[in-house]
Amino acid sequence: MKLYAISDIHTDFGENWNLIKQIDNYHHDGLIVAGDIADNLDVINKTFDLLQNKFKYVFYVPGNHELWIRNYKYNSLHKLNTIMNLCTSRGIITKPHKFKDHWIIPLLSWYDCLMPLNKNDIVESWADYYLCKWPLIDINLAEYFGSLNNQYLRTYEGNVISFSHFLPTVELLPNPKYLKFKRLPDVSVSTVLADQIKLIGSKIHIFGHSHINRDVLIDNVRYIQNALLYPRERRENSVNLKLVVDINE
Ligand SMILES: [Fe+2]
Ligand SMILES: [Fe+2]
Repeated sequence: MKLYAISDIHTDFGENWNLIKQIDNYHHDGLIVAGDIADNLDVINKTFDLLQNKFKYVFYVPGNHELWIRNYKYNSLHKLNTIMNLCTSRGIITKPHKFKDHWIIPLLSWYDCLMPLNKNDIVESWADYYLCKWPLIDINLAEYFGSLNNQYLRTYEGNVISFSHFLPTVELLPNPKYLKFKRLPDVSVSTVLADQIKLIGSKIHIFGHSHINRDVLIDNVRYIQNALLYPRERRENSVNLKLVVDINE
C-alpha cells in the first residue's frame, strides 16, 4: 500500500470539487485527509463518496471548517460527534490503524484557545469565532480536543505516522513578518498536540490548516503539509498527492 496525504481540499469550491473528482484510481492505496473538507455535511458526505471510490483506505480528521454550524442546528461538538459517527458508519478511518510495521494515528486537535474568549483573543476576521459554537464554558479547546485522543496515547511498536489538522509547533509557520494574516499563529498551533506526537513516538506527522505547504525535519520528526488550497491561492489547477510512504503488504 502506498500512503498519500492531502489536506484542506475545501470541496465546497466547485474548482476544488472538480479537481478531487479527476484524481486517478488508487485502488490498492491509502489517503490521509488532514481536515478542512467543507462545513456542509452533504458536501462532506459526497466527498467521502468520491474518495472512497478512488482509494482503498481513507484516513481522516475534521478541521475547523467542519465544525462551523451555519447549516447545522446544534453546537460544534455535537457536529464533531455527528461527523465521527458518519466516518465510522462508512468506513472512513479515524482511529489508529496498523499496516505491517506501520501505525497510522489520527489525532484530533484545536488551537490553544480559552473559552470564553476575552476581547484580546477575538480576531474579528477569523470565521471560527462567529461560526463555531461551543457548549462548554471555561475550557481550553486545545486541551479538550487533546483529551479525545487519550485512549490512543501509548507507545507503539514500529513506524508511527500521525496526522492532525492543526500544527503542533509554531516553527511550522514562516516568520509573522511574511504572513499575510498576522494572527495566524494564534489560531493554528496546539501545544497539547506537540506533547502527544512525542509520546506516541511519531516519525512523520501530516498536518493542514495553514495552507502553507511544508516538508521539513524538526527534532527528528518529518512534518508534511500538502494542502490543496483555495482556488485563489493555487498557482496550478491540479492535485498533487504527496506520497508519504510505501508499505509493502
Ligand atoms: Fe483550510
Ligand atoms: Fe483549517
